Amino acid sequence: MIEVGEDGRTWLLSGPTSSYALRLTDDDELLHLHWGPRIALADAEALAAEPLPAEWAFESRLDGHEEYPVEGGRRFVRPALSVRGVGVRGSEWQFSGAVTEGDALRLQFGDSVHQLGVTLVYRTRGDVIERYAVLRHEGRGDAPELELLRADSATWTLPAREHWRLSQLHGRWAAETRLVRSEITYGEKVIGSRRGHTGHQHLPWVALDAEGATEERGEVYSCALAWSGSWRIGVSQLPDGGVQITGGQGYDDSGQEVLAPGARMVTPVFAGLWSDGGFGGASRAWHAYQRAHVIPDAAVPRPVLYNSWEATGFDISEEQQRALAERAAAMGVELFVVDDAWFGQRVSDRAGLGDWTPNPDRFPGGLKPLADDVHALGMRFGIWVEPEMVNPDSDLYRAHPDWVQHQPGRRRTEFRNQLVLNLARDDVQEYLWERLDALLSGAPIDYVKWDFNRCFTDAGWPGERYPQRIWNAHVRALYRLLDRLRAAHPSVAFESCSGGGGRIDLGILSRTDQVWTSDNTDPLDRLAIQNGFSQLHPARVMAAWVTDSPNTQLNGRVSTLRFRFVSAMAGVLGVGGDLTEWSAGELAEAGDWVSLYKEIRSVVQLGDLHRLRPPSQSLSAVQYVHGDETVVLAWLRAQAHGEEPPRVRLRGLDPAAVYVCRETGSTHRGAVLLHHGLRTGLRGDLDAAVFRFRRV
Ligand code: DGJ
Repeated sequence: MIEVGEDGRTWLLSGPTSSYALRLTDDDELLHLHWGPRIALADAEALAAEPLPAEWAFESRLDGHEEYPVEGGRRFVRPALSVRGVGVRGSEWQFSGAVTEGDALRLQFGDSVHQLGVTLVYRTRGDVIERYAVLRHEGRGDAPELELLRADSATWTLPAREHWRLSQLHGRWAAETRLVRSEITYGEKVIGSRRGHTGHQHLPWVALDAEGATEERGEVYSCALAWSGSWRIGVSQLPDGGVQITGGQGYDDSGQEVLAPGARMVTPVFAGLWSDGGFGGASRAWHAYQRAHVIPDAAVPRPVLYNSWEATGFDISEEQQRALAERAAAMGVELFVVDDAWFGQRVSDRAGLGDWTPNPDRFPGGLKPLADDVHALGMRFGIWVEPEMVNPDSDLYRAHPDWVQHQPGRRRTEFRNQLVLNLARDDVQEYLWERLDALLSGAPIDYVKWDFNRCFTDAGWPGERYPQRIWNAHVRALYRLLDRLRAAHPSVAFESCSGGGGRIDLGILSRTDQVWTSDNTDPLDRLAIQNGFSQLHPARVMAAWVTDSPNTQLNGRVSTLRFRFVSAMAGVLGVGGDLTEWSAGELAEAGDWVSLYKEIRSVVQLGDLHRLRPPSQSLSAVQYVHGDETVVLAWLRAQAHGEEPPRVRLRGLDPAAVYVCRETGSTHRGAVLLHHGLRTGLRGDLDAAVFRFRRV
């Protein structure tokens, strides 16, 4: 809901529990008034009547109060917008109008010297506010071009509080989304990616609390950026203690785009959420927002998949994949995915990327015979691709060595023996569209795992007048390609992967169906990764595989099938072990876990998540509530001194209701589960259990 003040210069946007207010001064300064619990328009107008702090020579009265600080004038904060015209830098704008359409507010400004139009957009989605900016060159004919040095999506302003604390999700390959919290101090804390993709190092999300929020209580302000390329989020504590968060695409301020007359740039969405339900409440609101507004077909639970990567690596054949598919189908798997090495001369990571036709030695009849067999086994069929990359040893690179990102006269840096294609080029986009469209049309393919296994290094574009635009243009081209493929092949689902969790953000999630959370499939490590992931993203997109024990890829850890399954059942369950090596007993047990997962998956994937105990504790647990159904997954790292592990207190239940536990048949009173907890009966090392409750 959007309300407008009497003078038409104060706006109040409200969601079910929260409000956001802003006002325009007589000098066309756009000031922040309120972000927090729901308030009335009269409250916003009272705030609007309060004067700004007095100004003096060394401090700006605007700093810390503006909705979108531009470069220039009486401002010393990091500008959200920095524009260079011929001989003029910075911006000075005049308000030109406000438009409200449903839940969206558009505030328009114009800079007459640059002939730049700036529209700031606010859109409420429940308690989430989506913000972005549209920048238009409004000059005509031969007006000089404008260079956008920086164009952030939004600046968020927090209320005056003491001791703000920052939560962030940092990581690296195989150790993504690790949650850390630290008190912020004066100055700027900057996180981001200068790697061309979202990156394993930080999820584009921050959460701030000032009064010791807990998992279930307290105010939490969080922001997430919908962008899959380089990005930056800066959290600044200003000299007067005020805190602002600014974020957008691109890491540096060294130039993003050039606008010719008539051209425009739309920034990605930078979404913000206020919650007073602690970190858990914030996560549930983010999950609900993504299921309702971001993720395609989010109301439909994802199938159980099998992926062959850990089992077969680069050494694959049609027969061997068929053997795996037969075992997977017998176990109840619903989607069989052939990973790397089915195409070109891809017998190792040294060759073949770019040549998206089945390897004739490995798949003499193409992919169709295997796909048909997989379908006959009752499963859907998926493949792996890495379209944005090329191996120098490939037909594509031999034919088009100029199609990769490179700097003239410089060495082409290889990682994993591959180079990055310049997707900003129209011919590259067209090639990939034709190849991928042909692939999806040539065999009954239901699922595409889309990988990206190295960062940008030599992001040059010889011959292009403004090569820096490659950074944003690559991401937009990726989005266009995915959108076009989805439109042409609407029954195909897509997975975003980037060496595990290197490309997970709200931008890619609006055009993919699930993500590969991490290459780390160790079930214990995964609990911490999943705990971090769940701060922002829902279980509905969090793929998790059960692989072999000992864990061959990473740490050699030995764990039971029970522990591996219960760990992976916290998200979209997959299986990724070498099933030809699993005993009949293991295959049968795995089949039982898969059927149990099918019973609980709509609760897990579509329900409300409560993190009951974090994985930093020896006994950790999560709970999902969906209607009358509740599922608890509990894991014990190590039992101490023969003691019974602590009871797990449930949440989100009706204290007056009675719940029956499907595992034991016993009934439990809601109040007892909430206030005294559940005895899990877990014992020893790496034990785990699933509990299903139904309200009676
Ligand atoms: C990295 C992915 O994260 C893995 O799951 C696998 O698909 C490999 N790439 C294949 O090269």
